[in-house]
Amino acid sequence: MRKKIFTTAVVGAAALMAGTLVTLPTASADTLPDEKQCKKAAKTADNVIKGWCVAITRRKGNCLACHGVTTKARWPETLAPGGNMGPPLVAMKQRFPDKVKLRAQIHDATVANPQSVMPPFGKNQLLSGKEIDLIVEWLQTI
Ligand code: HEC
Repeated sequence: MRKKIFTTAVVGAAALMAGTLVTLPTASADTLPDEKQCKKAAKTADNVIKGWCVAITRRKGNCLACHGVTTKARWPETLAPGGNMGPPLVAMKQRFPDKVKLRAQIHDATVANPQSVMPPFGKNQLLSGKEIDLIVEWLQTI
Protein backbone atom coordinates (compact mmCIF):
# COMPACT_ATOMS: atom_id res chain seq x y z
CA MET A 1 0.00 0.00 0.00
CA ARG A 2 2.78 2.40 0.96
CA LYS A 3 4.64 1.69 -2.24
CA LYS A 4 1.51 2.38 -4.30
CA ILE A 5 0.92 5.75 -2.68
CA PHE A 6 4.56 6.67 -3.23
CA THR A 7 4.44 5.68 -6.90
CA THR A 8 1.28 7.68 -7.45
CA ALA A 9 2.91 10.72 -5.85
CA VAL A 10 6.01 10.45 -8.03
CA VAL A 11 3.98 10.00 -11.20
CA GLY A 12 1.78 12.93 -10.18
CA ALA A 13 4.75 15.18 -9.49
CA ALA A 14 6.33 14.24 -12.82
CA ALA A 15 3.08 15.09 -14.58
CA LEU A 16 2.92 18.46 -12.85
CA MET A 17 6.50 19.22 -13.86
CA ALA A 18 5.82 18.17 -17.45
CA GLY A 19 2.74 20.34 -17.33
CA THR A 20 4.78 23.47 -16.83
CA LEU A 21 6.83 22.70 -19.94
CA VAL A 22 4.26 21.26 -22.29
CA THR A 23 1.07 23.01 -23.24
CA LEU A 24 -1.96 21.19 -24.52
CA PRO A 25 -1.74 20.87 -28.31
CA THR A 26 -5.00 22.66 -28.95
CA ALA A 27 -5.87 26.11 -30.13
CA SER A 28 -7.53 27.67 -27.09
CA ALA A 29 -7.03 25.21 -24.26
CA ASP A 30 -5.58 27.50 -21.59
CA THR A 31 -8.66 26.87 -19.53
CA LEU A 32 -10.72 23.80 -20.23
CA PRO A 33 -14.42 24.28 -20.98
CA ASP A 34 -17.04 23.40 -18.36
CA GLU A 35 -20.09 21.32 -19.24
CA LYS A 36 -22.12 24.29 -20.51
CA GLN A 37 -19.27 25.59 -22.67
CA CYS A 38 -18.78 22.05 -23.98
CA LYS A 39 -22.35 22.03 -25.23
CA LYS A 40 -21.83 25.29 -27.08
CA ALA A 41 -18.57 24.17 -28.66
CA ALA A 42 -19.74 20.61 -29.39
CA LYS A 43 -19.21 20.89 -33.14
CA THR A 44 -16.24 23.22 -33.37
CA ALA A 45 -13.95 21.78 -30.68
CA ASP A 46 -10.97 19.66 -31.67
CA ASN A 47 -10.91 15.96 -30.78
CA VAL A 48 -8.97 16.41 -27.55
CA ILE A 49 -11.50 18.89 -26.21
CA LYS A 50 -14.35 16.77 -27.51
CA GLY A 51 -12.94 13.85 -25.52
CA TRP A 52 -12.67 15.99 -22.38
CA CYS A 53 -16.25 17.07 -22.93
CA VAL A 54 -17.55 13.49 -23.25
CA ALA A 55 -15.66 12.62 -20.05
CA ILE A 56 -16.99 15.48 -17.91
CA THR A 57 -20.56 15.59 -19.23
CA ARG A 58 -22.76 13.97 -16.63
CA ARG A 59 -25.11 12.32 -19.10
CA LYS A 60 -22.14 10.95 -21.04
CA GLY A 61 -18.99 9.61 -19.35
CA ASN A 62 -19.55 11.27 -15.98
CA CYS A 63 -15.99 10.20 -15.20
CA LEU A 64 -15.65 12.93 -12.56
CA ALA A 65 -18.23 11.15 -10.41
CA CYS A 66 -15.42 8.78 -9.46
CA HIS A 67 -12.13 10.14 -10.78
CA GLY A 68 -10.04 13.17 -9.95
CA VAL A 69 -8.14 14.43 -13.00
CA THR A 70 -4.81 16.21 -13.22
CA THR A 71 -4.78 18.30 -16.37
CA LYS A 72 -2.04 20.41 -17.87
CA ALA A 73 -4.57 22.99 -18.99
CA ARG A 74 -6.37 25.04 -16.34
CA TRP A 75 -9.41 23.52 -14.64
CA PRO A 76 -12.61 25.53 -15.22
CA GLU A 77 -13.67 27.46 -12.11
CA THR A 78 -17.27 26.42 -12.68
CA LEU A 79 -16.52 22.69 -12.63
CA ALA A 80 -16.36 20.74 -9.38
CA PRO A 81 -13.24 18.60 -8.92
CA GLY A 82 -13.59 14.88 -9.53
CA GLY A 83 -14.35 12.25 -6.92
CA ASN A 84 -12.08 9.67 -5.37
CA MET A 85 -13.88 6.39 -5.81
CA GLY A 86 -11.48 5.55 -8.64
CA PRO A 87 -7.75 6.28 -8.99
CA PRO A 88 -6.85 9.80 -10.16
CA LEU A 89 -6.50 10.09 -13.93
CA VAL A 90 -3.00 11.47 -14.17
CA ALA A 91 -0.02 10.98 -16.52
CA MET A 92 -2.11 8.59 -18.59
CA LYS A 93 0.21 8.56 -21.58
CA GLN A 94 3.12 7.39 -19.43
CA ARG A 95 1.01 4.95 -17.47
CA PHE A 96 -0.90 3.57 -20.47
CA PRO A 97 1.55 3.76 -23.38
CA ASP A 98 -0.61 1.17 -25.09
CA LYS A 99 -3.74 3.00 -26.24
CA VAL A 100 -5.49 -0.32 -26.79
CA LYS A 101 -5.28 -1.13 -23.06
CA LEU A 102 -6.56 2.28 -22.10
CA ARG A 103 -9.46 1.93 -24.50
CA ALA A 104 -10.22 -1.58 -23.20
CA GLN A 105 -10.44 -0.26 -19.62
CA ILE A 106 -13.09 2.25 -20.67
CA HIS A 107 -14.90 -0.18 -22.96
CA ASP A 108 -15.28 -2.77 -20.18
CA ALA A 109 -13.51 -2.34 -16.83
CA THR A 110 -14.84 -5.71 -15.64
CA VAL A 111 -12.40 -7.57 -17.92
CA ALA A 112 -9.43 -6.40 -15.81
CA ASN A 113 -11.40 -6.42 -12.56
CA PRO A 114 -14.63 -8.44 -12.45
CA GLN A 115 -15.62 -6.59 -9.25
CA SER A 116 -15.11 -3.16 -10.79
CA VAL A 117 -17.67 -0.50 -9.96
CA MET A 118 -16.67 1.37 -13.13
CA PRO A 119 -19.49 1.07 -15.66
CA PRO A 120 -18.64 -0.94 -18.81
CA PHE A 121 -19.17 2.09 -21.05
CA GLY A 122 -18.62 0.38 -24.39
CA LYS A 123 -20.02 -3.04 -23.64
CA ASN A 124 -23.26 -1.61 -22.25
CA GLN A 125 -23.41 1.08 -24.97
CA LEU A 126 -23.38 3.92 -22.47
CA LEU A 127 -20.93 5.60 -24.85
CA SER A 128 -20.40 5.01 -28.57
CA GLY A 129 -17.13 3.64 -29.91
CA LYS A 130 -16.38 7.08 -31.34
CA GLU A 131 -16.97 8.73 -27.95
CA ILE A 132 -14.60 6.30 -26.26
CA ASP A 133 -11.97 7.02 -28.94
CA LEU A 134 -12.31 10.74 -28.21
CA ILE A 135 -11.85 10.17 -24.47
CA VAL A 136 -8.73 8.11 -25.20
CA GLU A 137 -7.39 10.91 -27.40
CA TRP A 138 -7.91 13.38 -24.58
CA LEU A 139 -6.46 11.05 -21.90
CA GLN A 140 -3.31 10.66 -23.98
CA THR A 141 -2.64 14.39 -23.52
CA ILE A 142 -2.69 14.28 -19.71
C1 HEC B 1 -18.64 4.56 -10.61
C2 HEC B 1 -17.26 5.00 -10.56
C3 HEC B 1 -16.49 5.16 -11.85
C4 HEC B 1 -16.83 5.87 -12.99
C5 HEC B 1 -18.12 6.63 -13.26
C6 HEC B 1 -15.69 5.80 -13.86
N1 HEC B 1 -14.69 5.06 -13.28
FE1 HEC B 1 -12.88 4.67 -14.10
N2 HEC B 1 -12.39 3.52 -12.48
C7 HEC B 1 -13.18 3.34 -11.37
C8 HEC B 1 -12.49 2.45 -10.43
C9 HEC B 1 -13.00 2.01 -9.08
C10 HEC B 1 -11.27 2.10 -11.04
C11 HEC B 1 -10.15 1.18 -10.47
C12 HEC B 1 -10.02 -0.06 -11.28
C13 HEC B 1 -11.27 -0.87 -11.32
O1 HEC B 1 -11.82 -1.20 -10.25
O2 HEC B 1 -11.75 -1.16 -12.43
C14 HEC B 1 -11.24 2.80 -12.32
C15 HEC B 1 -10.18 2.75 -13.22
C16 HEC B 1 -10.06 3.52 -14.35
C17 HEC B 1 -8.90 3.59 -15.19
C18 HEC B 1 -7.59 2.87 -14.93
C19 HEC B 1 -6.78 3.82 -14.10
C20 HEC B 1 -5.53 3.29 -13.50
O3 HEC B 1 -4.84 4.09 -12.86
O4 HEC B 1 -5.23 2.11 -13.63
C21 HEC B 1 -9.17 4.44 -16.20
C22 HEC B 1 -8.26 4.87 -17.33
C23 HEC B 1 -10.51 4.92 -16.00
N3 HEC B 1 -11.02 4.33 -14.86
C24 HEC B 1 -11.14 5.81 -16.82
C25 HEC B 1 -12.45 6.22 -16.65
C26 HEC B 1 -13.14 7.08 -17.59
C27 HEC B 1 -12.51 7.67 -18.83
C28 HEC B 1 -14.40 7.24 -17.12
C29 HEC B 1 -15.53 7.98 -17.76
C30 HEC B 1 -15.88 7.58 -19.11
C31 HEC B 1 -14.50 6.49 -15.87
N4 HEC B 1 -13.29 5.89 -15.63
C32 HEC B 1 -15.63 6.42 -15.08
C33 HEC B 1 -14.41 3.90 -11.14
C34 HEC B 1 -15.14 4.65 -12.06
